[in-house]
Amino acid sequence: MLHVDITATLARVLTPSVGISEQELLGLRTSMKRFIGDWSDECSQGHHAWTQDIRNERMLRSVKEIAKRVKKERIQTVVWVGIGGSGLGPKVIQEVFETPDTVEFMLVDTIDPAILQLTLDVVDWKQTLVVVVSKSGETLETMSAFFLFWDALKQARGSKAAERVIVLTDAEKGYLHDLSVRQGFEILPIPRDVGGRYSIFSPVGLLPLALFDGNVDAFTEGAADMEVFCHHEKLEDNPAALLAATQFLLDTKKGYLIRVIMPYSQRLQSVARWNQQLIAESLGKNEVHNPFPVAAIGTQDQHSLLQQWMQGPRKSWHLFIREVEKHRLFVPTELDAEWGHIAGKSFGQLLDACLDGTAQGLTAAKRPHATISLTRLDEYHLGQLFYCFLAEVILLGKLYRIDPYGQPGVELSKKFAKDLLSRGLDA
Ligand code: PA5
Repeated sequence: MLHVDITATLARVLTPSVGISEQELLGLRTSMKRFIGDWSDECSQGHHAWTQDIRNERMLRSVKEIAKRVKKERIQTVVWVGIGGSGLGPKVIQEVFETPDTVEFMLVDTIDPAILQLTLDVVDWKQTLVVVVSKSGETLETMSAFFLFWDALKQARGSKAAERVIVLTDAEKGYLHDLSVRQGFEILPIPRDVGGRYSIFSPVGLLPLALFDGNVDAFTEGAADMEVFCHHEKLEDNPAALLAATQFLLDTKKGYLIRVIMPYSQRLQSVARWNQQLIAESLGKNEVHNPFPVAAIGTQDQHSLLQQWMQGPRKSWHLFIREVEKHRLFVPTELDAEWGHIAGKSFGQLLDACLDGTAQGLTAAKRPHATISLTRLDEYHLGQLFYCFLAEVILLGKLYRIDPYGQPGVELSKKFAKDLLSRGLDA
């Protein structure tokens, strides 16, 4: 199960001036109840299209078939081209499920020429499948990298090149869609109204999971089970609402502008970046109040950012993610006396001690933190985690009165870049 513990954000643990008081929580309960009701109604009216993906049997079948085909055709490498929501979710899946036995997976979310050159050089294009992912079908980084790899595929496979391209894009429109129809690329549609950062339960998350031999049914089942909790009216029974209420009160009542998302699990490193994007692009639309997300990772950032969190300006609150049942690996037992406290302990115990040490340190410094615990890091619990964060952001949209869909603010710089390139002003 997924469990959210917000105890260390409360005034009774910290002090009233820095922690959430009973009255503040009480004051929010009525509006939260209304917002949860609204979100339930909207879902049953067919809004929040991403929530439908977890029941899309056809989509599940398609990704399983492609994964089978990759094995049958002995494809060695999958080059996945996609950025933002089309790259961050797949990166999480890669970090959690990749093993030495799974297909080689190269995620390209960059136009750094040195990295593109490296990819061109190391990949055997005869044995490679290119998956190009862009909901809009218009993203400069994704399309330019794809054009490069499409040339490499054509050189390697001639008239059979198109068989090794799979396109994840809008079912009806966009440049990439039209190109795919012209070239005969297989299209796996991203459902209508499911934008990048909401696409983890579409083929954007399901296909990489199937390619890594992950259990896509367990992933969507975890999400579906979490969905039930995310419609409960009572905060304590609804992890998404509890997180949203905590986030909102810490920001608007206590002045903690920054939300640090810090998994104590290397394999969840990209979940923090995924959540950072989800919050920033969904809610970064109000100059007065909106959460400012920062991705961190334990234990590494104890040796980088923790000093500032402990004694710097009181601007951040901390959301830890803990994997309860961890891989079992032990520190050797025969150690010098000064290392007796770790001899024979599991690395999981060490990781827990570091998390608890950080948490206790923050509490002692009267700095708020909360923890999401996942029983274990598998498909089911990852599905729960993604769903919980997505539902949280919808509820936050209601609390902050911000439309969580669309990202109009990023369009301007894209336009400037396009103008510069069109006018030939680039160096
Ligand atoms: O969340 C979003 O919608 C964005 O971050 C997009 O994922 C990103 O801009 C890439 O867009 P696209 O998938 O259309 O190439």
